[in-house]
Amino acid sequence: MSVDAPMAVCDHVRMEPSLIDPFRRQIQYVRLSVTDRCDLRCSYCLPQGFRDFEDPEHWLTFDEIERVMQAFTELGVQRVRITGGEPLSRGRLPELVSRLARLPGLHDLSLSTNATRLRRQAAALKAAGITRLNVSLDSLNPERFAEITGGGSLDDVLDGLAAAREAGFTPIKINMVVMKGSNDDEISAMVRYCIEHDFTLRFIETMPMGDTGRAASGQYLDLKEVRHQLEREFTLLPATMQGGGPARYVQVAGTALRIGFITPISQHFCDTCNRVRVAVDGTLFTCLGQNDQTALRPLLRSGVSLETLKETIRAAIARKPERHHFVTEPGKVIRFMSYTGG
Ligand code: 5AD
Ligand code: SF4
Repeated sequence: MSVDAPMAVCDHVRMEPSLIDPFRRQIQYVRLSVTDRCDLRCSYCLPQGFRDFEDPEHWLTFDEIERVMQAFTELGVQRVRITGGEPLSRGRLPELVSRLARLPGLHDLSLSTNATRLRRQAAALKAAGITRLNVSLDSLNPERFAEITGGGSLDDVLDGLAAAREAGFTPIKINMVVMKGSNDDEISAMVRYCIEHDFTLRFIETMPMGDTGRAASGQYLDLKEVRHQLEREFTLLPATMQGGGPARYVQVAGTALRIGFITPISQHFCDTCNRVRVAVDGTLFTCLGQNDQTALRPLLRSGVSLETLKETIRAAIARKPERHHFVTEPGKVIRFMSYTGG
């Protein structure tokens, strides 16, 4: 190599080329499931009475998670979202958060939660380094909320949201899975609630993940209909949102509310996919809607070097599928969303 070859020498973390898949998509984002357990049983996610959770022996330890995330960040990943299951049901979560927040190169550490246990942990999570928060909330009616979630308490969630606000999280995003004949009559109530509380709102189409997701697909509603319904009541202006991912945003005129539409079914966004997922047991999934996977746990437990771990991740991403086939092959993904992370 000639002495003046253009090579970054000052920032060793950025020296390696980033992760590019065969479809020229740059992978910058990892969704990390820290548990597959959950205190709720949302109708589209987990079956009532479900107990077949991963053996805790198979959960990646905090040391193992940190090592995997070190590998990813050294490969150019800048954003990590902690998910589950319900991530707050994993013990000592703030400790994991502060360890990940220290990784050089990581610029954004966010969390998706059902908020049932957020009251007690919001301040600690904020202090540990969570930058952004998404909360699942499908109904504002206590009976219906209990029905959709298999017995959950709406009050706990609303209290958790209040605690998140008090802890200084901003923005706070509400994720609502819209289901025909179940909660589609609450769309405008949810908009008003989010205006009042200064939350960002995202509507999500139901995906056929696992038996529950497939069953709920009978309640699938194309979000174009939701948008038309809203346009009769509100003026919607085009908007953007930093870190908005696949959501397409509008702003409600005369308010600060931004609404995102996440449409994996009616308008898939696979061509701009920038993410992969690490399941609770250390399985790397390169597509939510496919079964392509690479087991990282055996490598981690056999004392693999960081270099080999990075090579394995690179090789997995070199095989990332082009897109999901939720519409043409709805039976393909049998795992539940709580395992790979919602
Ligand atoms: N379809 C769409 N979203 C789902 N989630 C779980 N299961 C499904 C499904 N079948 C997502 C929702 C929920 C989060 C925890 O997981 O966004 O808010
Ligand atoms: Fe739990 Fe989220 Fe699944 Fe509901 S959708 S059961 S809150 S993991």
